[in-house]
Amino acid sequence: MIPILDQFEKIRVIPVVAIENAQDTTRLADALVEGGLPCAEITFRTPGALDAMRIMAKRGDILVGAGTVLKVDQVKAAADMGVEFMVSPGFNPKVVAYCVENNIIITPGICTPSDIEAALEFGLDALKFFPAEAFGGLKTLEALSGPYGMVRFIPTGGVGPGNLVNYLRFPKTLACGGTWIAKSTNISEGRFDLILNNAREAVALAKEAQAN
Ligand code: 3PG
Repeated sequence: MIPILDQFEKIRVIPVVAIENAQDTTRLADALVEGGLPCAEITFRTPGALDAMRIMAKRGDILVGAGTVLKVDQVKAAADMGVEFMVSPGFNPKVVAYCVENNIIITPGICTPSDIEAALEFGLDALKFFPAEAFGGLKTLEALSGPYGMVRFIPTGGVGPGNLVNYLRFPKTLACGGTWIAKSTNISEGRFDLILNNAREAVALAKEAQAN
């Protein structure tokens, strides 16, 4: 199997999703796969999250992770559902320690040098830069990459079609994450056509970033 971080590097865009109704999971996954973005970070922000993880992880044609992971119990529950990676908005040493000890991939959120050093202590060097735009965007990323050249970042938070190419062109960007591809309202209103289009657009922009 291809290592998860290598898969991120290949996919380049990680749709962050909040699924209110787990019944929408299959159509969402269909749209993402058809749109060329076979990946989803399903956030623990809705009661249906665990069911959605289980349904999506069972398919086998899409890389599924858990997002907004705030507690060790959530890591255990998500892992039981078959998800392959964890994402947290901040750096929680308990969550990170559990994942590292149990060989579970986690990309914790960081936005300061101290956060990065805490992550490096655990041997992690692929980190979510969150909230990217609110914390200075690419300029901050470039500054952080000076001392921490060994780190690859996943900018998330305020990333969208307007700035995706610039983020992806930055050599230390592993992938970008964001909710713009599959917005909660689009999911609950059954607008999988829009999600398909957003996925296709993101794939095209990722190609554009690669080309130059
Ligand atoms: C996240 O959880 O990663 C963020 O809420 C995503 O931020 P965005 O909505 O600006 O993409």
